[in-house]
Amino acid sequence: MKMQAEDRLWELLNDIDDYLEGGFRRPHASPVRLPVSSAAAPSANSRGGSVETARGPSPAAAEVAAAGETEAGAPEAAELLDPAERKRRLSELAARVTACTHCKLHKTRRKAVPGMGVIDPLVMVIGEGPGADEDASGLPFVGRAGQYLDKWLEAIDLSRHKNAYIANIVKCRPPNNRDPEPAESEACFPYLMEQIALVRPKTILTVGRVASQILIGRFDSIGSLRGRVYQFSGIPLVPTYHPSGVLRNPGYRRPVWEDMKLLRSILTR
Ligand code: URA
Ligand code: SF4
Repeated sequence: MKMQAEDRLWELLNDIDDYLEGGFRRPHASPVRLPVSSAAAPSANSRGGSVETARGPSPAAAEVAAAGETEAGAPEAAELLDPAERKRRLSELAARVTACTHCKLHKTRRKAVPGMGVIDPLVMVIGEGPGADEDASGLPFVGRAGQYLDKWLEAIDLSRHKNAYIANIVKCRPPNNRDPEPAESEACFPYLMEQIALVRPKTILTVGRVASQILIGRFDSIGSLRGRVYQFSGIPLVPTYHPSGVLRNPGYRRPVWEDMKLLRSILTR
């Protein structure tokens, strides 16, 4: 079990590196690059600091921007795209997601759930995958957990209608809300990378173990990952519990509130 999850992380971390170095070579990926300068995971031995170190440098976005789109499909620097163009590309991405058949989750979904919110948000919330309500509506985090999440955001002046964007690791519902399988997270990952590049969030909030482990690149419990700030591709990332977990375990409320204050402190500094 444990090995399998570690293997999944390894695959995804290689994916992140590939993306930063020149975009995914995947049929459903579009050549936009992350607008920032360094990649995911913290070093394994740095504990206790408020900000953990990134995995390593990637080429400056400007170098790639100068090259534009080459025959090899080098990605464009997303920061050079104007807001209207980024919105246009997000709609186009949503259309690709809606029609996507790149993993077996497409067979059981009712509606794919690409994501929703504003561009250039203060925070991009990243969950695990759609549940029953999301599968029925095509919108992320609209069920009970989603309404609870909206309250957390509201407590620090954030809202998906005003200054936040919400997305998931996988865009189609895993049957019976099981964890996404490695092949599914991996197949869907290029969409999330494109979204981050086009949305350009100031911070990232990962909710739950699955999204936190994948984006932090560390196979630890959410309880030990949370409580500090990481960097994902140069973007400050705060991990916390999943709202559905907190609904089941009121003991997680206090740590979540601490994490929301941590997020707020980054936004106001
Ligand atoms: N849980 C998630 O992780 N994402 C959703 O969109 C809804 C519930
Ligand atoms: Fe495609 Fe992602 Fe849906 Fe799988 S979960 S079918 S990769 S959109």
